[in-house]
Amino acid sequence: MRIAVLPASPKTGRATIKALLESDQLTTPLHVQGIYRDPSKAPAEFLSHPSFHAGQGDLSDANTLELGGVDMVLAITPPRYDASDILQWARVASENTRLAIQKAGTVKRVVLLSSTGAEQPSGTGEIMTNHIAEEILQHAAPEVIFMRCAYFMENWESAISTVRTDNPHFYSVITPLDYRVPMVAVDDIGRACATYLLGLEPPRSPYVVEVRGPQEYTVNEVQQALHDAVGQEVEIRPVKKEDFPDFFGRFLPQSSVGLFVEMTNSFLPGGVIASAIPNPDVRVYRGRMGLGECLGKISVPAR
Ligand SMILES: NC(=O)c1ccc[n+]([C@@H]2O[C@H](COP(=O)([O-])OP(=O)(O)OC[C@H]3O[C@@H](n4cnc5c(N)ncnc54)[C@H](OP(=O)(O)O)[C@@H]3O)[C@@H](O)[C@H]2O)c1
Repeated sequence: MRIAVLPASPKTGRATIKALLESDQLTTPLHVQGIYRDPSKAPAEFLSHPSFHAGQGDLSDANTLELGGVDMVLAITPPRYDASDILQWARVASENTRLAIQKAGTVKRVVLLSSTGAEQPSGTGEIMTNHIAEEILQHAAPEVIFMRCAYFMENWESAISTVRTDNPHFYSVITPLDYRVPMVAVDDIGRACATYLLGLEPPRSPYVVEVRGPQEYTVNEVQQALHDAVGQEVEIRPVKKEDFPDFFGRFLPQSSVGLFVEMTNSFLPGGVIASAIPNPDVRVYRGRMGLGECLGKISVPAR
């Protein structure tokens, strides 16, 4: 069985390759093809594995994407915060992925890395990139699976730098601080995607899986996990909704700020995603890594 990860650089692609290479494929030899803009970026631990090889490909150019002989594809819409129009970028990347799959003619299953809320046709900001990808890829192969992932626990990595100062603190756009939000570790996303790439049962197409961690978490619990990770008290600095444009404007290009404001509002109480009625037909994959373990892994001990 030949599985392509397109592209392989994103942290979710890397976690999936790791899970695939660690899986027990006793009956069928497994070949994993990681597609990189720059194949020299493929990690040494993958390159030394006999079932892995790195190929070159850029999602912005369909002619560079070669999937001949591939059975399964993990498709990812890589975030491009430098793009002037990130929704247009999602269209280009997804169309090029679809064209490459069509040209190959061998792909039986596409597993698409997507997001909670991607079913919403509007009002979700940056998550619209995942909605666009689902729309474009929904008929790309006989079997298509949407992996709708929750908020990545690794998003809190940006808090580590302010937690490691003399006034340990972090900013939270998630309020109220006791509001429970589904979160998931990227390692669990990798295991979930590998499970659905290798699964023998043909799912109906498209087939939707919500990918979550073992439980939902509050920002107060994030504070506790950061405290445990760095061994000192950590202050939460909540960001008010009216301050979102200024907050996101500090580290994002102006063209992306509005989409991040809308996305954040969509999963806070009263937002489009938070208010959506759960669909009983959607499967939920529960990962095993807790927030404490994940933040402990990505934190550097305090000075
Ligand atoms: N963060 C969240 O909470 C969250 C939640 C749910 C879903 N998601 C979704 O998860 C998906 C994956 O996110 P991620 O965090 O894994 O991504 P990421 O780690 O930010 O990956 C971005 C990488 O994509 C590669 N890339 C960019 N343009 C490319 C191109 N034209 N061709 C090939 N590769 C290209 C770049 O690597 P090189 O420079 O090495 O080429 C870049 O470093 C996104 O679709 C996001 O919307 C995120």
